[in-house]
Amino acid sequence: MSIGRNEPCWCGSGLKYKKCHLNADAKVATFALKGCEVPDFEAIRTIKELEGIRASSVINTAILDYVAQHIHVGMSTEEINTLVHDFTLAHGAIPAPLNYEGFPKSVCTSINNEICHGIPSPDIILKEGDIVNVDVSTIYKGFYSDASRMFTIGSVSPERQRLVDVARECLEAGLAAVHPWGFLGDVGAAVQEHAEANGYSVVTKFGGHGCGVEFHEEPFVAHVGKRGTGCLLVPGMTFTIEPMINAGASDLFIDEKNGWTAYTIDGKDSAQWEHFILVTEDGFEILSY
Ligand code: MF3
Ligand code: CO
Repeated sequence: MSIGRNEPCWCGSGLKYKKCHLNADAKVATFALKGCEVPDFEAIRTIKELEGIRASSVINTAILDYVAQHIHVGMSTEEINTLVHDFTLAHGAIPAPLNYEGFPKSVCTSINNEICHGIPSPDIILKEGDIVNVDVSTIYKGFYSDASRMFTIGSVSPERQRLVDVARECLEAGLAAVHPWGFLGDVGAAVQEHAEANGYSVVTKFGGHGCGVEFHEEPFVAHVGKRGTGCLLVPGMTFTIEPMINAGASDLFIDEKNGWTAYTIDGKDSAQWEHFILVTEDGFEILSY
């Protein structure tokens, strides 16, 4: 960064660089010199970017709340898609999944043994006992947000309920491991330990990701790992944590016909919760509340 100490900071705070990001930028440079993986400069959000990302995330959360109010047994996943699509447009936003790399719908709905990227269809009806992940992503004024939740349809088996609960705890364990100047490996390790302690496995082919200016940005957020390894966590980064937890093996296969939907290799269930977060100077903030 070749900004003079007394020039305005690049982040748009209006403060002099020396009173704003100078110390943090120097700290990142020091970690890089030691051979640590550090985020790209663009991964640290400006004040304007954060404003846009927050506004996008407020809508994204409202969409998930709206789904939560309306999801019910007997509903098709196409109806979930319609709810999400119409609500998003009514709020002046765009569903990020629609036409993303050819994805045909406005939301992902993944049931039971589907790990992720389930495609809504009028032929897929939510049945009593199903567990379904609804993964919502929004573009608002050019800024992206992304979060998902599990929904239980009617009363579900104790086995399924436990998977849903442990998957949620895995997300919470990952969040609790986010510290500025810590590492992404801390997050992966925390998720992996909790999943494996409960006899479950963690999907490694998909992960969380930087998000905000684009849908999927660096860094890749693995949900397995070793503490003290991986990308440095720097205040101002925004990314998702979205562990996919399998009741059986972690392996998967992709639907040949639609090219998207990931299923567990052994037909056992999978659950996923996702939050979108900002790394702050003293911890993190959940943007997807
Ligand atoms: N929302 C998913 C994620 O968490 C991405 C889905 S890509 C799509 O990263 F095209 F299927 F929407
Ligand atoms: Co995501």
